[in-house]
Amino acid sequence: MEVQQFNREILNDLFAEADRMQIMCEYLDDNHVSGEDKKWCEGIWKKMAEKRIALLFYEPSTRTWSSFFVAAENLGARVMAIPPARQFSSVVKGETVKDTIAMFCGYGVDAIVMRTDKEGMAREADEAARASGRTVSIINAGDGAGQHPTQALLDLYTIKRFYDNELKKNIHSERINIAFVGDLANGRTVRSLAYLLNKYQDSEKLEFFFVSPSVLKMRDDIKEYLKKKKVKFTEYEKLIDVANKIDVFYMTRVQKERLGGIQVDYDFIRNNCSITKEVVKKLKKDVIVMHPLPRDPAFGEIPEWFDNDPRAKYIQQAENGLYVRMALLKKVLLG
Ligand code: NCD
Repeated sequence: MEVQQFNREILNDLFAEADRMQIMCEYLDDNHVSGEDKKWCEGIWKKMAEKRIALLFYEPSTRTWSSFFVAAENLGARVMAIPPARQFSSVVKGETVKDTIAMFCGYGVDAIVMRTDKEGMAREADEAARASGRTVSIINAGDGAGQHPTQALLDLYTIKRFYDNELKKNIHSERINIAFVGDLANGRTVRSLAYLLNKYQDSEKLEFFFVSPSVLKMRDDIKEYLKKKKVKFTEYEKLIDVANKIDVFYMTRVQKERLGGIQVDYDFIRNNCSITKEVVKKLKKDVIVMHPLPRDPAFGEIPEWFDNDPRAKYIQQAENGLYVRMALLKKVLLG
């Protein structure tokens, strides 16, 4: 699964389903739900009781793992949660992803949510699932430094809800200046979101501002893609230089585990690619500041003192992950 496979219609359909999933969560919280909504929830639970979802993670995760787990449970599916694969499974003994997936397919799972630590493993897993001859969906929950499609879905959903609910504007008629800030070379979330935004918003209504130290610049594949799609983008090293132009800030941490020997000047990042008091003074009133989390206090890309600012949306963003992942699992397994 890569984000290029989505289009505006599929996305709006998924987002409408995510809105509805909030009603299911209310029902699960013992709140009163009636009529069509009640019937809809119960219909899903009945069908989902026959489905089994496996969670197979080769890399650390807090939000993605737990929100998929809760999403699957809320939908009433059976969950097979494999302990961290790199420590406790036969991967330690050298087993290939192909063999692992072939075996799970034989256990009757309907979907495997996978986080991998090497780019391309998600595709290998997909091929293995197809080769099994059974109907098993592989859901990419982060593929090394490659993509993180479900994060991009929840990020876009968060942006859309901000335009719908807070700005009361139709996102498609607005011009969006979005800044991607931090480790743009190794962050898979920015890569997926850059592709996905382009699938959702007309090119002339989008402008990207890539802010990073020169050693962590956005990779060429994304820049080539944007050129081909005629989306304007510019590159900067200092957030302060663009702070007053931006509508959506997407902050990221340095992906220390993927640097492979590159020397990063951390003081430079702390001073120039982070939310500082000087940056805040320049922000527009109606902006949204996002972060896929985890943030890294060592660099303070978003310092805690900013958390109470109404423009800080990263906690809501993480919560939205639950609704979007419920919607996605429902679509994948029940249509
Ligand atoms: C991100 C990831 O794993 O790529 N985290 C997440 O899924 N929310 C971002 C990161 O690790 O920096």
